[in-house]
Amino acid sequence: MDIVSHRLVSRRATAPLAGRIAVPGDKSISHRALMFGALAVGETRISGLLEGEDVLRTAAAMRALGAEVAHEPDGTWRVAGRGVGGLVEPADVLDMGNSGTAARLLCGVLASHHLFAVMTGDGSLRRRPMRRVIDPLSACGARFAAREGGRLPLAVQGPKEALPLEYRVPVPSAQVKSAALLCGLNAPGITRVEEPEATRDHTENMLRHFGATVQVEEAGRGRIISLQGQPELRAADVAVPGDPSSAAFLTAAALLVPGSRLTIAGVGLNELRCGLYATLGEMGADIVVENRRMQGGEPVGDLVVSYGELHGVDVPWERAPIMIDEYPVLAVIASHAVGTTRMRGLKELRVKESDRVNATAALLAVNGARVEIEGDDLIVHGDGRALPGGGLVETDMDHRIAMAALVLGAATDQPVTVDEAAFIDTSFPGFAALMNDAGAVLSPA
Ligand code: S3P
Repeated sequence: MDIVSHRLVSRRATAPLAGRIAVPGDKSISHRALMFGALAVGETRISGLLEGEDVLRTAAAMRALGAEVAHEPDGTWRVAGRGVGGLVEPADVLDMGNSGTAARLLCGVLASHHLFAVMTGDGSLRRRPMRRVIDPLSACGARFAAREGGRLPLAVQGPKEALPLEYRVPVPSAQVKSAALLCGLNAPGITRVEEPEATRDHTENMLRHFGATVQVEEAGRGRIISLQGQPELRAADVAVPGDPSSAAFLTAAALLVPGSRLTIAGVGLNELRCGLYATLGEMGADIVVENRRMQGGEPVGDLVVSYGELHGVDVPWERAPIMIDEYPVLAVIASHAVGTTRMRGLKELRVKESDRVNATAALLAVNGARVEIEGDDLIVHGDGRALPGGGLVETDMDHRIAMAALVLGAATDQPVTVDEAAFIDTSFPGFAALMNDAGAVLSPA
């Protein structure tokens, strides 16, 4: 899984983006499907699994913990699980690559298993904060040792018998919530997790899908989730929907290239992931959802995105948890809208694969946009005209910064180049080819 380093350049599309495409499977759901499959009794079949680097790391970790994980000739993935509490001690270090979700969720799984494990990741993951999971998980009886500031590599020794957790997550984070719930699976009694604001609920949905008993109460803007520990999880098939965060890049390209009309089929529409679409609606975007349906407990639909003039908006801080991964590409769209877009309360964006507040501002500035940072707010001014472009964007090991920059290049006067495109494969293998199929012009630099 070594990365092959390369630059990519994106030139202005010569024709509108058109046609019907599908994006790869949802990253959040893919990680969880593999983990739940490994913790269930029996054989789970997963179709549409995202075969990106991040998810392949989770697959490898589940194998190292004793589950059988196989890629079948028909493209589905088969996981023969070991049951809750049945994972075995890994013989070597678990390398989670670039993936914060894999690392943090896995900490939750490991903490309540009576085993010793060591985890590391790439340069980006090794600078990300892990204390946010180490602290709450320690209350189950697990002992963690990590580098200064709670950074990877870390080691964990799980207790003989874990205690259930009672935890109020201090920041809106689905990863932290999920780590606590996954830990609670192998502790007797009830694990109770309160989140201050509702975040993506794929873990809760999948717990139910695999037969666990979960209760969710609304609590102001947040939720209290109660999980009955030590259930017998039963293997269950999972059909992974298209990733709305990946669809966001194609959506943006269609909104930026005049005359475009693009259909993105089979996109997951979990309401706690859909903040971007609410915001784009407020900006005046023409996006229609067709063929709404349910797929494996998650809502799915086809997005029909048409080009049109957009105007700047004020994006409230309350929306951050439900569009957290979409701010870089929203900022790119805002740079071509008429007026000012203010994106408020982006503190959590600073601890992603890169500091995305700074990286997003830099990617726009180097291509001639007027952009400001005020505290944790990002402000982008546009006048409805194409940006000059011509910039070389530093992606800082961040797939979403790379993709946002390449989408921008579809509309700028001069091409936009990214210094490192390899990390795109962590979440969106085939991104450049799919963009080009739709009508964009991406090529090696
Ligand atoms: C994710 C949660 C979010 C998101 C990440 C995936 C998940 O992270 O940014 O891409 O699958 O739970 P945080 O929980 O840190 O906000």
